[in-house]
Amino acid sequence: MPDSQFTKRVFSGIKPSGGMTMGNYLGAIKRWVQMQDEEYETIYCVVDLHAITVWQDPADLKRSTHEVAAAMIASGIDPARSILFNQSQVPAHAELGWLFNCVARLGWMNRMTQFKEKAGKNAEKQSLGLYAYPSLMAADILAYHATHVPVGEDQKQHVELTRDIAAKFNHDYGVEFFPMTEPVIEGPGMRVMNLRDGTKKMSKSGESDMERINMLDDADAISKKFKKARTDPEPLPEVMDGLKNRPEAKNLVEIYAALAGITPDSVLNLYGGEGWGKFKPALADLAVEKLAPISGEMTRLMDAPDELDRILAAGADKAAEIAEPILERTFEIMGFVRGRR
Ligand code: AMP
Ligand code: TRP
Repeated sequence: MPDSQFTKRVFSGIKPSGGMTMGNYLGAIKRWVQMQDEEYETIYCVVDLHAITVWQDPADLKRSTHEVAAAMIASGIDPARSILFNQSQVPAHAELGWLFNCVARLGWMNRMTQFKEKAGKNAEKQSLGLYAYPSLMAADILAYHATHVPVGEDQKQHVELTRDIAAKFNHDYGVEFFPMTEPVIEGPGMRVMNLRDGTKKMSKSGESDMERINMLDDADAISKKFKKARTDPEPLPEVMDGLKNRPEAKNLVEIYAALAGITPDSVLNLYGGEGWGKFKPALADLAVEKLAPISGEMTRLMDAPDELDRILAAGADKAAEIAEPILERTFEIMGFVRGRR
């Protein structure tokens, strides 16, 4: 089956590990919502099995799972048009993940920069799951024969690994079974950086709450965080070239652009020559205007966890309908005896 015969199918996921940030929204979910109106079948997953690669308190895991699902729905992911579910309810992910652990090579895993960043000097103390995680991510994607994976820049290497696993599997077994998945990375705001250090990404798990905007932050918190965001003494330049070597300043301009849906250069057309005293409050107002309706709806949904659970369970049924036959065919290709079904 040549690549062109694969249905155009999108798969993407977010880990339920801590609160949702503006990085998740601008770098991922915003694009996922648009893709529902394009020519794709869309599958979006709360990847709970990935979350436990680092310690998750059971009550927190449950709350975060609800928060991620609520953020997706409140941002415009429509469970009637997309398949929305949590990963652990579809066993095919873990099963295909194991098969891929036996396809992926140690040398490939050793090149994964996210593991190196997360493990730091403490690699020996990390879980085996954190190291193997990209292989499970490949399983998430390939269990659906997904052709397109919209993610932030930080995930590009994992999608490339997914292609390596698919290519090796196809080659070793002499089939053209798994597609060559494309990462979809575009637009401003694709990498939202930390408000205290413009060289690090804004993350759910960063140490200080002041370094990120949470999707559930209220207007006061958002204003305060932008006001205290690190910058430099220079005013805003007239063109983006003037933001070289000014990572914090560049980040704030790009966040503005992404929220407003304009280019960073257009932001500088509006604010070039101005100081932070003018720009930061304008940015805070814009962020509140865009995020407040979403956080209001998120709160409503999170107060109705049973409704969320029903949506996730129904999504998991639909997901399993696609993933199970693909998993079954994979077992068959590899020579497993499967007499039960
Ligand atoms: P995670 O929160 O690590 O599970 O990431 C879920 C999705 O959000 C992935 O597609 C990430 O690439 C994206 N993402 C997370 N943080 C950021 C960020 N600071 N900037 C852009 N995209 C992000
Ligand atoms: N690894 C991704 C992240 O940390 C989350 C993820 C897991 C994912 N499985 C996926 C993203 C499959 C896209 C497709 O952000």
